[in-house]
Amino acid sequence: MSREQSLGVWRLPTSLQSEPQSWRDGRCELLGNQTPFRKHLPRKVYASICIAVPRTTGKHLISSADVAEQAGIHKDTLLRWLRQGVVREPIRNRHGWRMFTADEAAAVVKIAKAEHPPTETGMILRDSVTAPATVERLKKVDWDFREAKTSYLTHGLHPYPAKFIPQIPNALIQELSDVGSTVGDIFCGSGTTLVEGMLLKRNVIGIDANPLACLISAAKTTRLQEGDKDSLWRLTERAFHLANEFASDGSPTLFPAAKFGSNASRPQDEAIDFWFEPFITEELAEILSWCRKLQTESARNLALASFSAIVVNVSRQDSDTRYVRREKNLHPGDGFKRFAQVLAENVSASEKFTELLEPNITCGIVHADLLTAPKVSPMDLVVCSPPYPNAFSYHLYHMTRMVWLGMDQPEFKKREIGSHRKFSSKGKNGATIETFQNEMNSIFGWLKKSIRQGGHACFVVGNSIIRGQAHDNADVLRKAAVAAGFSEVATLSRNLKDTAKTFNPKIGKIKTEKIVIFQNTSVSYL
Ligand SMILES: C[S@@+](CC[C@H](N)C(=O)[O-])C[C@H]1O[C@@H](n2cnc3c(N)ncnc32)[C@H](O)[C@@H]1O
Repeated sequence: MSREQSLGVWRLPTSLQSEPQSWRDGRCELLGNQTPFRKHLPRKVYASICIAVPRTTGKHLISSADVAEQAGIHKDTLLRWLRQGVVREPIRNRHGWRMFTADEAAAVVKIAKAEHPPTETGMILRDSVTAPATVERLKKVDWDFREAKTSYLTHGLHPYPAKFIPQIPNALIQELSDVGSTVGDIFCGSGTTLVEGMLLKRNVIGIDANPLACLISAAKTTRLQEGDKDSLWRLTERAFHLANEFASDGSPTLFPAAKFGSNASRPQDEAIDFWFEPFITEELAEILSWCRKLQTESARNLALASFSAIVVNVSRQDSDTRYVRREKNLHPGDGFKRFAQVLAENVSASEKFTELLEPNITCGIVHADLLTAPKVSPMDLVVCSPPYPNAFSYHLYHMTRMVWLGMDQPEFKKREIGSHRKFSSKGKNGATIETFQNEMNSIFGWLKKSIRQGGHACFVVGNSIIRGQAHDNADVLRKAAVAAGFSEVATLSRNLKDTAKTFNPKIGKIKTEKIVIFQNTSVSYL
């Protein structure tokens, strides 16, 4: 097959025949490989079209990383230029990656080599209204991310009900913030936004009223220090060793295994006897004492989060989102064994995460109730998922973990917004959609002062059913945001996987979520 045949044959629409530039823009129409094309056009025209063909067939497209390399710029600079409209948006392949034609790549090289290329901050118009091109790009993203892997690096370190998938904050951070800026998650939960923000070279701030959420977020964003890996591996080995020494499947043997007993202190709380087998209590008390003795905060956070990760699993609590008691088939040694397995996985995840971090990127985690308007450094972008009214009760699901870790669970119970407990209680004490509206009004009032002018706030939210009535939570957010002086930039929709656990079985499956994007400017172009 000749080169011309393999490339396909193209016909120039007659309207373009006097516009040589248009041919190079790829506005040609494919006729088919067999057409004896050469006869119908002068030689010169034929040559031009042959040059145009490879990039329009999609076989010779160039990735963002390669274009950035050709241009001698960092990939993040290229992404910023795209966001700012300095570089024209190329097509995306079926994986959603941007793919540049040779001409588009050449245009980037030209911009990079220009005498005055756009500077790091020179193009950013902080108080301008979001560019329509950015909104268009956001609308084109397939927010379902159906086949995406979601537990890479430290994302799988600890279970957390209703955590969002990392691809959502990742895409929003790339589109709506710059390298080196500050990205916050004001309901940070398990720290998904924080991990993605740090990987994308943004400084991050996380806030949550749940002390356990703060521990998990700290562990997921931990930078392992010199010596941490060794001290954590030693814990893993010790736990494996004790698991083997005291393992028993409960069946009678001639020489019954010795019982493990720990001298370590344990919480004096009746919940312990109710939710844990006595042999598991001994093992957990021992493991917790090891974790607490670790020298560095980074190692301690990772070990304590790993300890917390196994607590529900080795308790009589049914599951992470079902607070009912059931007997599980647990045996002596199971506490040690599960801790060793989880810690080993978490150390290796944390090591990989640490390797990818730039040294100057910072992470601040604030344990606070948002309704008390905590003081934080100004943020450029917020990406969060608020607690949905009547959907979850974090203070209940995390109760046994918090008792072990000595956290103030009753205080968090009072502070928790949206808890199923508050909304299901009858009479004048039962929360209503107005309760949630008032809470969001107060939070947006605080947010207005905490996000820089021109910055964005993205909320991922589903609907709620309160006492049999459906409520659109995006609408509640919109009212609160507009009242505080934000403009709505876009509302995007996503379908949840059928298997997603982001719903309360009692109130029915939530099949879709909205991503509502606001901007801290009172000027709206919608
Ligand atoms: C849907 S979860 C966030 C999950 C998070 N996006 C993730 O990926 O893990 C909502 C969070 O809001 C927190 N929250 C509830 N009431 C709060 C309050 N008054 N102040 C701050 N955070 C609160 C809960 O503890 C919970 O972690």
